[in-house]
Amino acid sequence: MAEAESLQAHSAEELESLRLKYLSKKGLVSQLMADFRNVPAEQKREVGMLINKAKDALTERFNALKAELSTTEDDHSGLDLTRTPYPVRLGTRHPLSIVKQEIVDIFSRMGFTLADGPEVEDDWHVFGSMNFADDHPARDMQDTFFIESHPDVLLRTHTSSVQSRVMEKNQPPIRVICPGRVYRNEAISARAHCFFHQVEGLYIDRDVSFTDLKQVLLTFAREMFGADTQIRLRPSYFPFTEPSAEMDISCNICGGEGCAFCKHTGWVEILGCGMVDPNVLESNGIDPNIYKGYAFGMGIERITNLKYQVKDLRLFSENDVRFLDEFMAAN
Ligand code: PHE
Repeated sequence: MAEAESLQAHSAEELESLRLKYLSKKGLVSQLMADFRNVPAEQKREVGMLINKAKDALTERFNALKAELSTTEDDHSGLDLTRTPYPVRLGTRHPLSIVKQEIVDIFSRMGFTLADGPEVEDDWHVFGSMNFADDHPARDMQDTFFIESHPDVLLRTHTSSVQSRVMEKNQPPIRVICPGRVYRNEAISARAHCFFHQVEGLYIDRDVSFTDLKQVLLTFAREMFGADTQIRLRPSYFPFTEPSAEMDISCNICGGEGCAFCKHTGWVEILGCGMVDPNVLESNGIDPNIYKGYAFGMGIERITNLKYQVKDLRLFSENDVRFLDEFMAAN
């Protein structure tokens, strides 16, 4: 009886082993019952009572332990289930990814689809097929990273190489945007870096005009920077477009009033564009007598600076968590 009182169980397994030891079919109580046959008749009454008492004491103790265990297992009184979990540090998307996605979304809504090409390119796709003369200064070692042992292999200096990659595989209608990283051999400073990101756009079909280009770019500027954004196109030169233009938007930092960012002009340049030069169509297997097209290219860092006023380009590639955390709300 005292043994029954002293039994302990701290888990369901311990409780079960007690049951097996004492109360199961092969347990101690059953064995005593079995041995009862051999007890002399005159002692049967006393021994029987003792066995019954032991059985009752063990059963009672077992049930008590069982009840105790089930209450401790379900007992949440010490826990505050309404408390917020320990704060988990969520990552943020990189500002350049956020802005790239926004640009891609805007053009996707206008029917453009994504295309891409390699960052390690050859001379033909970056320059040759894009109507660069053999002695064009962009081919200079000062601008372009060449692979020393392979003069034909280089890091692309612009995403216009993807135009060529798309045209050589597809006939018009072509309507693509191509985001990607580009490389130029520049000294790293707050305003220049040896790599940055661009988004290229290319549209080729019958009867494409400069007006189409202008309207698409106006729509883009207003979706990106707000409905009252103004654009202006200034004549420019690129080997792969004719005519070519650079597009400015009304400075969205000062609203066109004039500030340090727009150098007090009220305008900031955001992209280069133009009608695809017929030589480019021809070099890439598209008949310039049937098809026309426009193209544009913009720097993602520049657009991001305009949206978020990041003062130093180097912040984009340093991965300082304090900088990245500032974009938590933009995610
Ligand atoms: N590739 C040009 C640049 O890097 C931008 C551009 C793209 C201009 C397409 C016109 C058409 O500056």
